[in-house]
Amino acid sequence: KLPIIIDTDPGIDDAMMLTLAFANDDVLDVRLVTTCSGNISQDKTNYNARTFLSYIGASVEIARGLEGPFFRELEVAEDIHGESGFGNVKFPAPKLPVSERPAITAMLETIMTSDEKITIVATGPLTNVAALLLAHPEVKPKIERISWMGGAAVGGNMSPVAEFNAYVDPHAVEIVFRSGIPIVMSGLDVTHKAFVTIDEAENILRIGGEFADKAYQLVTYYLDVMKKTPFHEENYDQVLHFHDVCAVMYLLNPELFEGQNCHVVVSLEGITAGATVVDYTNRTDKAPNVHVLHTVNREQFVAEFMKAVEIISAR
Ligand code: BDR
Ligand code: CA
Repeated sequence: KLPIIIDTDPGIDDAMMLTLAFANDDVLDVRLVTTCSGNISQDKTNYNARTFLSYIGASVEIARGLEGPFFRELEVAEDIHGESGFGNVKFPAPKLPVSERPAITAMLETIMTSDEKITIVATGPLTNVAALLLAHPEVKPKIERISWMGGAAVGGNMSPVAEFNAYVDPHAVEIVFRSGIPIVMSGLDVTHKAFVTIDEAENILRIGGEFADKAYQLVTYYLDVMKKTPFHEENYDQVLHFHDVCAVMYLLNPELFEGQNCHVVVSLEGITAGATVVDYTNRTDKAPNVHVLHTVNREQFVAEFMKAVEIISAR
């Protein structure tokens, strides 16, 4: 099994990512979940991770991460994910407790005590991961790679050029991108191609059962929000972008994706803050530091996701 740590800010698509990860627990060994501040505050992301994972019957340590970015004020995305982070969908109170170890300590100890190298999946701002690398550089050789949802080679969703996770904490992106650890970036270039149509979302409901029902409610809440969002690209009101799901799907089914090794830097300040500058054509002549995904086999992606919902529903 592939040993992984998941750092997340649930968040609707984060919950779908967790669904995929825990449905595939025959392949992925999730050793730890840590919560970052992003879509909503740390109090809420941690609570949501615990309620959602309790609900799907996962048994895993869930540690609390940092309250917000290194230098910027935390900007949340309650307009997209709702005030609670899960739209209007309610889950029972969590059975899983908050870990006694703070996220950075839990990550450090999980990585250093593991016989195998650990893969980190990060689907929010990179604050926790960057703090770990700064405070404990000794973990670097023990990290297999970091699969991150964030960034974009072309176009943003927070500004014309910046994707949300990169925009919230660009300095953290800088630290991670300079770390020398292999990085796979599922930016908007690929996640906008990893969409689920309304008709396909209806199929979630057809799976039947309480979990499928909740998953359907979550994704359709997200879609309703998109319908009311005036500034997005074509089709935004008819499809659901499964951004965070890509970071786990890539680990499970890398053959569904195409990407390119590129040199990538991030803009830290000013009107381009959070823009990830991807050197596709090797203009800078600098060594690649990121594997940038740009294409996905959408039909297969959706089929794999549906299987995951079926598995969790049947538990
Ligand atoms: C990213 O921003 C968040 O709102 C989503 O959960 C995803 O991680 C997409 O830009
Ligand atoms: Ca997220």
